[in-house]
Amino acid sequence: MSVYIGCFVGVGVGPGDPELMTLKAVRHIESADVIAFLVNDKGHSQAKDIANLFIESQTLLPILMPMADDAKVGDAVYDQASEQIQSLLDDNKKVVFLCEGDPLFYASFTYLLSRLDHNSTLVVPGISSPQSAACALQHPLTMLTESYCVITGRHDDAFIESTLKNYDSIVIMKAGRARVKILNCLENSNRLNEAKYLEYIGRDNEFIEEDVTQLDKQAGPYFSMFVVTKKDRPR
Ligand SMILES: C[S@@+](CC[C@H](N)C(=O)[O-])C[C@H]1O[C@@H](n2cnc3c(N)ncnc32)[C@H](O)[C@@H]1O
Repeated sequence: MSVYIGCFVGVGVGPGDPELMTLKAVRHIESADVIAFLVNDKGHSQAKDIANLFIESQTLLPILMPMADDAKVGDAVYDQASEQIQSLLDDNKKVVFLCEGDPLFYASFTYLLSRLDHNSTLVVPGISSPQSAACALQHPLTMLTESYCVITGRHDDAFIESTLKNYDSIVIMKAGRARVKILNCLENSNRLNEAKYLEYIGRDNEFIEEDVTQLDKQAGPYFSMFVVTKKDRPR
């Protein structure tokens, strides 16, 4: 029997390596009645892949999130999913929603959290991708008084370039379709030689390019990012 009945738990499963899941994340997954997660058009979920070791007899609730630029498509999916989850909670089920990385950092969980009653929700933090990027590179994100900013490839060129100018360390998330734009912004800001690129951190297909001038000038996968840090640092 579940300890947390009628409860909705957003569980961060970390960026890719299942060994980076917390003990708390595993405990909540193992004791869930229902495991919910987003799937893409191909039926794939990165978050479920990461947590698979701990999923046995729990009921699965895949939520199809089609690739669309129109926010109304996402809104309709979250509206319907939150209704489904609410009826499970009313039935005293414990529902765990798997979130890649951390559940409150650029995460789909936030849209469900805002639609459900906060008295019956819990959030379990996870290691987010910028932290695991720094560890994969064995390179500090920040040192001493350095400033740090996280942006996305969905920002426009002017915003990306002004961030590259004004901050010491910058992580650029959601780099996939924006790869070419980001490379141009790095060049215009004279920071090409301070940038590193990572794909699928912690997964079998992890790819790291420390010389971003070697990257093809074409779109990359969704699970990719750039990390920019100052060249001259104290040793
Ligand atoms: C919707 S956000 C999810 C962020 C996540 N909640 C976190 O805490 O890292 C998706 C973006 O995170 C980044 N990302 C997440 N996991 C990654 C990984 N394993 N490798 C590379 N980038 C990743 C990519 O930039 C991707 O476009």
